[in-house]
Amino acid sequence: MIRNQTIVDILNEEPKHQELEVKGWVRSFRANRFIALNDGSTLKNLQCVVDFENMDADLLKRVTVGAAIAVTGGLVESQGSGQNVEIEVASIQILGDADPEDVKRTILQPKRHTLEKLREQAHLRVRTNTFGAIMRLRSQLAFAVHKYFNENGYYYVHTPVITGSDAEGAGEMFRVSALDPKNPPLVDGEIDYKQDFFGKETNLTVSGQLEAETYALGLGKVYTFGPTFRAENSNTSRHLAEFWMIEPEIAFCDLDGNMDLAEDFIKYVIKYVIENCQDDLEFLEGRQEQEDKSKPEAERSPMRLRDKLNFVLENNFKRVSYTEAIEILKNSKPNKKKKFKYIIEEWGADLQSEHERFLVEKHFKSPVILFDYPAKIKAFYMRLNEDQKTVRAMDILFPGIGEIVGGSQREERLDVLKQKMGELDIPEEELWWYLDTRKFGTCVHSGFGLGFERLVLFVTGMGNIRDVIPYPRTPQNAEF
Ligand code: 4AD
Ligand code: MG
Repeated sequence: MIRNQTIVDILNEEPKHQELEVKGWVRSFRANRFIALNDGSTLKNLQCVVDFENMDADLLKRVTVGAAIAVTGGLVESQGSGQNVEIEVASIQILGDADPEDVKRTILQPKRHTLEKLREQAHLRVRTNTFGAIMRLRSQLAFAVHKYFNENGYYYVHTPVITGSDAEGAGEMFRVSALDPKNPPLVDGEIDYKQDFFGKETNLTVSGQLEAETYALGLGKVYTFGPTFRAENSNTSRHLAEFWMIEPEIAFCDLDGNMDLAEDFIKYVIKYVIENCQDDLEFLEGRQEQEDKSKPEAERSPMRLRDKLNFVLENNFKRVSYTEAIEILKNSKPNKKKKFKYIIEEWGADLQSEHERFLVEKHFKSPVILFDYPAKIKAFYMRLNEDQKTVRAMDILFPGIGEIVGGSQREERLDVLKQKMGELDIPEEELWWYLDTRKFGTCVHSGFGLGFERLVLFVTGMGNIRDVIPYPRTPQNAEF
């Protein structure tokens, strides 16, 4: 019996002339003899050698770049260099044609295409080596996330995608409504959301944190990993309107425990892909080196991709208070020479990505955990410190990325939390359920959010967040 196998498995087999069947897409067909077949299971192609003199010429004409085919034949030791095994083709079946004239106007055409061009054909880009590698890595990273939490006693909680509250209090939400936009019901000239589907205003979630907190205060250690949405009009290479966030939340854990967890977790998932995705990482490393050649010296990556990943594994993240960071920034060259767009004048200033990148890339040259931020620039739920002006917040900053994690110890004291909400005009009625958790067995607890695409950016060495998610959602763009 002939087995139908994936290429990743076939390439690990001993060549004993065993008969097999393999299906994939043609990457190239050289000299009417060598088909490079790829099925997505690995970066590597399987070489299928055709004895064209004994094959139907009309059939071979249909073996074109992009076509889907099934090949049967014996697995033999390869005569050529570049692969250990190859298939001696016995039969070919065309499963789906690809007209070469049509292929010419797509990115399937084998030549170098810009990343912008690939984005325009995001439905086809996964068939390129670069996007195959990125998306396999993304999948493996997601698996490693679940593996880590599962091995460490966390329960996976599915927090709602549609919510009635603004977890971050930043107001960057997409409204969810089933009302007729052309003719909504009005009361006193305003849209009457009481008549909407949920009987109130609802939106897509910006974070699962508040709901995750309620679950941590029952299950102990939980995490969420799901899509989150932000209607912030930031057209940058680090922002998406729809992104995936990982949010652990832990009862009886303070900020130090939270930092330890974040560091251990990040190191674990990076180690996992170093061990399990060698081919794809090697390919992306080469790609980055190639890209760097066309960049000015200052913009090149200071380390090779796998060296950079190993560096993160081998070094402790630097833990620095906001106050120390402000001193460093105030006295820094770019601040004194007014090279920063936003000059740091005094304590209390919000840090911009230029400041974060200076700290990580120029000053510490390592991942940094900044903690104890001014209360004024952070969200309402963060625990107030004894000094009454800072909160137990932490941000983790990564080279080339900037902020990758944002988290905190949560305010567990009902009176302090209520006072803070009052100051920020957050209605208690809206978060009555959240406040309940502070009434019934409240306790010290902490958590953080890690932007999954920022992690994928770091691990793949790509430069734009639009290239590490299958179908990016950004301002003015929701194609596909
Ligand atoms: O710092 P943020 O806004 O924190 C929260 O949402 C907390 N509720 C998390 C928590 O404590 N459970 O977002 C967390 C992380 C950021 O550090 C960043 O990595 C990522 O989410 N992120 C984005 N990633 C892509 N595009 C955007 N527009 C992002 N906004 C935040
Ligand atoms: Mg943040």
